[in-house]
Amino acid sequence: MAKHVCPWWIGSLLASPIRRWIAENPEQLLAPYLREGMTVLEPGPGMGFFTLPLARLVGPAGRVIAVDIQAKMLAGLRRRAIKAGLAERIETRLARPERMGLDDLEGTVDFVFTFAAVHEMPSAETFFDEAANALKPGGLLFFAEPSGHVKTDEFQREVQAAEMAGLQVLNHPTVRRSHAVILRKIDAKITCNEPSGSLKA
Ligand SMILES: C[S@@+](CC[C@H](N)C(=O)[O-])C[C@H]1O[C@@H](n2cnc3c(N)ncnc32)[C@H](O)[C@@H]1O
Repeated sequence: MAKHVCPWWIGSLLASPIRRWIAENPEQLLAPYLREGMTVLEPGPGMGFFTLPLARLVGPAGRVIAVDIQAKMLAGLRRRAIKAGLAERIETRLARPERMGLDDLEGTVDFVFTFAAVHEMPSAETFFDEAANALKPGGLLFFAEPSGHVKTDEFQREVQAAEMAGLQVLNHPTVRRSHAVILRKIDAKITCNEPSGSLKA
């Protein structure tokens, strides 16, 4: 069954500055993981509530690649980026729901950030495979889902999919009304014919 996707007209509500007062403060949440010059991948950015802060934190030498399946979300994001003078640091990509199509990014991304998007994707397994492939070894992935929409056991299944893709849980940051985890790319994937939890050297 097709997953429910956030309608584009909710995008501007999600990108509203009021959100930073009632929910997340993007700079506070993201600053510990980012440095100038980094390459960041943001799957499911909507209209860019987090994308603009990400672009500010990576500075003029960095870049943010924002991948969404809705052209109207990306158009709203681009408008906001131009107004903020950040358009040159942000690349928007329109994807199909089944695959983001990121082969060209293999091993080049320092940090993946995805917030409230993976539960809308047809396959968490495919998503984490693509994200892990894009990350540099040792690169980090910040993954959060809204606890109102995603039950704890569903989030745990998503985290297991991330582990199967070769990502290792580092810690669970506190994010209001959300499940959140930081994962790190390890060198090899877990394979099915090995004892549970063992890693291929
Ligand atoms: C609930 S919104 C969250 C937007 C943003 N992360 C935020 O917190 O404001 C989910 C976003 O994920 C996008 N999305 C859904 N399925 C996707 C997929 N398969 N690949 C990429 N983006 C997807 C939607 O179009 C929407 O923009």
